[in-house]
Order: sequence, then structure tokens, then C-alpha cells
Amino acid sequence: MKVLLATQKPFAAAAVAGIREIVEQAGYELALLEKYADEAALVAAVADADALIVRSDKVSAAVVAAAPVLKIVVRAGAGFDNLDLEALTAHNVVAMNTPGQNSNAVAELAVAMMIFMARTQFTPATGTEIQGKTLGIQAFGNVGRLVGKKAEALGMKVKAIDPFLSAEQIAAGGAEPVSDLETLYSSCDYVSVHIPATPQTVGSIGYDLITKMPKGATLVNTARKEVIDEAGLEKALEERTDLKYVADVAPDNMETLKQRFGTRVFATPKKMGAQTAEANVNAGLAAARQIVDFFTTGNTRFQLNKK
Ligand code: 3PG
Repeated sequence: MKVLLATQKPFAAAAVAGIREIVEQAGYELALLEKYADEAALVAAVADADALIVRSDKVSAAVVAAAPVLKIVVRAGAGFDNLDLEALTAHNVVAMNTPGQNSNAVAELAVAMMIFMARTQFTPATGTEIQGKTLGIQAFGNVGRLVGKKAEALGMKVKAIDPFLSAEQIAAGGAEPVSDLETLYSSCDYVSVHIPATPQTVGSIGYDLITKMPKGATLVNTARKEVIDEAGLEKALEERTDLKYVADVAPDNMETLKQRFGTRVFATPKKMGAQTAEANVNAGLAAARQIVDFFTTGNTRFQLNKK
């Protein structure tokens, strides 16, 4: 039984060692494909893989077609927009993620980004404090809830919205529930985005929502760049010279934004929200355990493509 760990953005060494231990203790073989150049490398490597662990690596229909003995793919992380679930299902391959395992790392980055922007990207210019400000959390899942708790501890007022949670559930998570997005954006000094990239959410945050934000507000995106309507963002930043945008990872028009808006915008060069040793270990080991558990007991708890 061969488990392939394919990561264009490699895990910390401790995580790889932990994954190896779990896989080898189960009597399987671990193959490593790190920092690979292109899809062709992954296509070649999956040829004899029974199981595959990836991060944001694209598991496309071509990859699935090149993996005749593949039975399970685990995305070591939360967002699974990189998996072609249709192709995986058609080939009877079980797809899973590891929800919650890297959430704290992403939540810490969201808080760090708020402070970084409040303090004018650590330039000597006079900044502001986040204490006493209102934070709106768009999607109150594993990451959103953690961001809320940390923000509250820093003296922020926290509001949240989530299409899959009731007002009672949001309140139980420690945030004030808000009924619609317009209200969230118009009543919060910071909005932190935690929605997945789906056909419904791609390009869904644009000019109309962003310009609803109050004076001096900052939009924080540690979710996916695709959920932002980039032309709408640019127009909003042009018209509202008080607004700021910070993101993990850079929008396609980042160079233009940087030139036009300077320290009002910031983006990480490479998605780094989950790039901590702890998150790598948590998500990587969970992925390895889920694979062993699937093969030994048939456990499909985190299966994403259940029929
Ligand atoms: C996730 O969806 O889990 C995060 O965005 C982390 O992605 P990464 O594993 O590519 O860093």
C-alpha cells in the first residue's frame, strides 16, 4: 500500500516525520513529492498511489485519471476547492479534508493582519488601536469562531453571520448575530472573511459590499482570493480613500493596487495562513490517521463526496 504525500508547499519536517511514522507503523509505504514543478509531476507520481495527501495542490480530473489504484485523497486542511470532487467520485475515490486542524494558525494570522494594518504596516505613521472597534466575521466556522474569541480578548466587539448557523448558534459562539451581509459590512470597522470558494461565493465580495463599510474600515481576507471581485475592490479603494484591504494571498491585480494605494493594501506573496509547525503537524498527522483508519476500519467521517 503506497501513500503519496504531494505538497508543492512542503510541510514542516516534524509533520513529514509524523506522517511517515503513522504510515509506516500501519505497514504502508510513504512516497514524498515536494515542491514539484507542475501537474505532470503529480500525474507521474500518482500512478501507483493507493492514497494521496495534499495541501492546496490541485487534484484535477487528469490527476485522478492517472491514478488507477487510488482509493482515498485527504486534503490536509480545510478548504477543498482544489479537489475535483466530481472526478474523484466518478472514479470511486473517497475525498476527505481535516477540518479544524489548521484553524488556529489562520485565526492568528487574521488577528495579526488587523493589527498590522491598524499600525500602518509597522511604518512610523500614526496608527489606530483595534480595542473598542467592531469586527464582523463572515462565516462563523472553525476559523471564524477562533478569530472572534481572540478579537474579543483584545477588546473588540464581535458580530458574525453564517448561512448555515442560526442566530442562537452564533450567539452561543460568542458573537452578536447579524441577519444580512449589508448590515455586517456597514456596521463593522473590520470584516474578516472566512467563506470557502464555491460557485456561489466566487467574486461575491465587491464594490457594493466593500463601500458599505464605515470610515477607516479594513477588509481582511484569509479565506480565498477568488471570493473577491478584484475590479470591484479596486474601484472601492479608489473612491473610498479611507478603506484598506489585507489578504492572504495576493489578488491578481495586487501590483496595481500596491502602486495606486500604497500601505492601504497588503498581501502575502504565498498563502501562509496555515504555515506554522503546529498546523502542519495537526493537519498532516490527522490526514495520515484518517487514511489508516479508512483502510483498517472503513471510517469515512470526514468524507466530502458521500453519495
Ligand atoms: C486551508 O484551506 O486549510 C488553508 O487555506 C491552508 O491551505 P494550505 O494547506 O495550502 O496552506
